[in-house]
Amino acid sequence: MEKLNNDAIILHANVVEGFKSGDSYNSHRPDYTEETTNFVLNKLNLETERAYDILELGAGTGIFTRKLLEYDTKDLRILAADPLENFLEKLKLLSPDVETLQCSAESIPLPDCSVKNIICAQSLHWFSNKKAIREMHRVLVPRGRLVFLWNVRDKTRPSDITCDIAKYIEDSLIKDSPNQSKKAWAGVFEDFHGFSSVEDHVFLQHLKHSGTIDFIMSYLKSLSYISKLEQSEQENVERTIREMISNHPEAKNRDIVDIVFNTEIHWCEKQ
Ligand SMILES: C[S@@+](CC[C@H](N)C(=O)[O-])C[C@H]1O[C@@H](n2cnc3c(N)ncnc32)[C@H](O)[C@@H]1O
Repeated sequence: MEKLNNDAIILHANVVEGFKSGDSYNSHRPDYTEETTNFVLNKLNLETERAYDILELGAGTGIFTRKLLEYDTKDLRILAADPLENFLEKLKLLSPDVETLQCSAESIPLPDCSVKNIICAQSLHWFSNKKAIREMHRVLVPRGRLVFLWNVRDKTRPSDITCDIAKYIEDSLIKDSPNQSKKAWAGVFEDFHGFSSVEDHVFLQHLKHSGTIDFIMSYLKSLSYISKLEQSEQENVERTIREMISNHPEAKNRDIVDIVFNTEIHWCEKQ
């Protein structure tokens, strides 16, 4: 694994404090569906030679990287990058053949025009800033693609437990933490004119992340803004969510709770 001096990587405090265990993150976070992975692969531009085919930024423990590997990608040069050593270690353990690079999106140690496509799965909100957008633009080849996506808890069905949990999280827990729901990336792209306009696709109610209440609690505790809380605050959050589930007309009678996600995918091209 190529390493950088950690002093060169400046991260949001919630990333450092909230993502301490690659094991726990990897065991409890939602996966990506076949449709999502195919959609992303179809958006890539793989024409230019002598460049990485895919740079995955914020690859974490490799949840999306492993989806890519399930497809016809064995001839592609994939580079998985993340600033967190403990996340990359987990990725490397699970996918030893994937090349990895420890870096943040704001400072990518690659030459200009050396990457055909960048994919950011569930990560662009951490680096929705001018410096990172300029870096991504710099390393992409002309007409290189940037594809970014999120699994987003579904709030469209008020009778569903996912809606209650999603609202509680947004109203009480995310606070000033960078998050997809704030769509900060949109403003950054508007001010930067190096990419084509961003196109979008949403798969509605596309993915179920299901498990016992304990599993769902572990998933929620893998969210950085919950995981970074003091023990007593985490216990309050846990109590609130357990009560929400046990009072919910449908969820309370079930051994398995479903958290339902929409998957939103965005893409643009270097101009
Ligand atoms: C929610 S995780 C997503 C991980 C993985 N892509 C997935 O789908 O599970 C967000 C990732 O973004 C990374 N990240 C945070 N700040 C970053 C930055 N400035 N540059 C690049 N990656 C960053 C974190 O280390 C973390 O692995």
